[in-house]
Amino acid sequence: MAKKPNQKQEVGTTGHEWDGIEELNNPLPRWWLWTFYACIFWAVIYSFAYPAWPGIKGATAGFLGWSTRADVAEEIAAQEAKLGPINEKLASAELTEIADDPELSGYAVSAGAAVFKTWCAQCHGSGAAGAKGYPNLLDDDWLWGGDIEAIHETVSYGIRNETSDDARFSQMPAFGKDELLESAQIDQVVNYVMSLSGDPMDAAQVADGAVVFEENCAACHAEDGTGDRAQGAPNLTDAIWLYGGDFDTIKETVVNSRFGVMPNWDSRLSEAQIRAVATYVHQLGGGE
Ligand code: HEC
Ligand code: HEC
Repeated sequence: MAKKPNQKQEVGTTGHEWDGIEELNNPLPRWWLWTFYACIFWAVIYSFAYPAWPGIKGATAGFLGWSTRADVAEEIAAQEAKLGPINEKLASAELTEIADDPELSGYAVSAGAAVFKTWCAQCHGSGAAGAKGYPNLLDDDWLWGGDIEAIHETVSYGIRNETSDDARFSQMPAFGKDELLESAQIDQVVNYVMSLSGDPMDAAQVADGAVVFEENCAACHAEDGTGDRAQGAPNLTDAIWLYGGDFDTIKETVVNSRFGVMPNWDSRLSEAQIRAVATYVHQLGGGE
């Protein structure tokens, strides 16, 4: 039998033994122990210095008063202070003169692109090409107007919302649902509308449809069907469709009408942000 080390007598065993191998109760190395105590000490101090202890309404604040949120707020405030002068200039400039000032318009376009990605892309698409019911902002077909002032107004107050008293408003009647037109008349006028920009489904109905249009639709869409921006009534002759130009979709529009709603942004964005995004939209290609 191998001799057991002397150490055993000095430190004793833990009483654990496996197949004759005993576990000695050696003290932990000093350096290890002190590091361990230092860590505990550090942890206690840290947990009082920084947000750590969970409570009902969030963690304790910590005596250093630091938080990720405050950190971000500080960074944002610093950034805002830096941009303060140019934002002020943007908010107070003549709308129509922004484009002529390269520094101001350059800033407005890049700031506006960021605003657009955050607040507008959900509906108008990240490239602003729109979707069914959400107008394409890249083309020069405007429902309400495409000069900088009209865009600024649209963005500030929105369209058909209930949250701004100054929202743009108009309402196409639901000619089918509210029984303003007979079913046959609706088919006629839909064919007429199709004929304005392409081929009708049934050419024989176009002439009668023109009469229905004249009496029921021209007040908003104009005699020649080119629309009326004062009422946000789309141009029906340009083959650019907000909802769709096939027979069924036009019929759906005439029967039930639509009610496109856009939020107002004057309560959510600063004047400088609104002007920035209006400038951005204006320079996308269709600006007038
Ligand atoms: C909740 C969806 C939604 C969001 C978000 C939204 N829009 Fe719109 N926007 C619409 C709809 C719907 C219309 C068309 C309303 C109508 O039928 O007249 C519209 C119309 C417009 C028009 C008028 C286009 C024209 O042809 O006259 C402009 C300009 C516009 N939006 C810009 C913006 C900008 C800039 C933002 C972001 C700050 C934004 N929109 C955010 C839904 C939205
Ligand atoms: C009171 C004004 C008004 C009258 C009257 C009116 N419209 Fe409209 N029309 C509008 C407006 C506003 C829109 C845009 C609706 C929206 O976005 O919510 C529209 C949209 C449309 C569209 C959708 C165009 C697209 O690009 O998808 C068609 C089609 C249309 N109207 C056809 C007609 C026909 C046909 C009549 C007559 C039977 C008629 N409208 C009468 C105001 C009117």
